[in-house]
Parts: sequence; C-alpha cells; structure tokens
Amino acid sequence: VARHYHENVIDHYENPRNVGSLDKNDPNVGTGLVGAPACGDVMKLQIRVDDDSGQIIDARFKTFGCGSAIASSSLATEWVRGKTMNEVLTIKNTEIAKHLSLPPVKLHCSMLAEDAIKAAVKDYMAKRAKANSLITKPNYKE
Ligand code: FES
Repeated sequence: VARHYHENVIDHYENPRNVGSLDKNDPNVGTGLVGAPACGDVMKLQIRVDDDSGQIIDARFKTFGCGSAIASSSLATEWVRGKTMNEVLTIKNTEIAKHLSLPPVKLHCSMLAEDAIKAAVKDYMAKRAKANSLITKPNYKE
C-alpha cells in the first residue's frame, strides 16, 4: 500500500510520537491550531515552555488529516523539544518534507506543521505578554 512512501514517513505514521494534548489554559503552554483550506485537514500542536531556560520541554499534537500531515506533526513535536522560541521559528517545512521525503503534492502537509509551530509560539508569547502586563500594570482596585 505504502510502497511509494519513504520509511521515515511510514515510521512516524505508524508510530506517531507525542500524540495528545496539554492543558491550553496552562500559562506555560502555547497552542497552535491550523487548517489547510485545500484539503480541510486540521492540526493542533502544543508546546510547554520552561520559564527559567526558555526551552520547550514538552510537545504534543493531534492531527485530523492525511498520513503525511500526521508524520509531519509527529516529527515537529520531536524537533521542537529542547529548543527556544527563536530556534523553533527557524524550522522550515522544507526540512520536514526532506526528512520524510514527501512528494511535491504533499508539501502543504509539512507546511501545516510549520504553521502549527509558529501558531503555538505566537500563542505562548501572547500569554507571556499578557501575564507581564498584569504584573506591571498598577492595580487600582481596593
Ligand atoms: Fe492536506 Fe495532507 S492532504 S494535510
């Protein structure tokens, strides 16, 4: 069935890493939820960031989509671990596609993973900014 696919994509499809969810209300968790308009596939990728080191210490995904999207998100959760926000933003979908040897028609599946990482970082940063403004803003309530 899968003879046209590279072993890396089959491996991540058959044995996806880090499937699941983190608490999206946790202040240290960033959630990225993205969809591919072309096919309707949806990917949720979450990161947990360590306050002190600024590194991602946990990552989970749930993907409603094709095998390449599942493999891309599985790989993404492995690649983001141990990295800082700036470092994960350099992860390119082309690297994911290359590692999984995705055919050109499946490039948008890896794009979903890059978008999901970016969305998770954005969510985490927004939470941080909000938390900081709550700390620094004077509280006039009695
Ligand atoms: Fe749309 Fe793979 S076919 S994400």
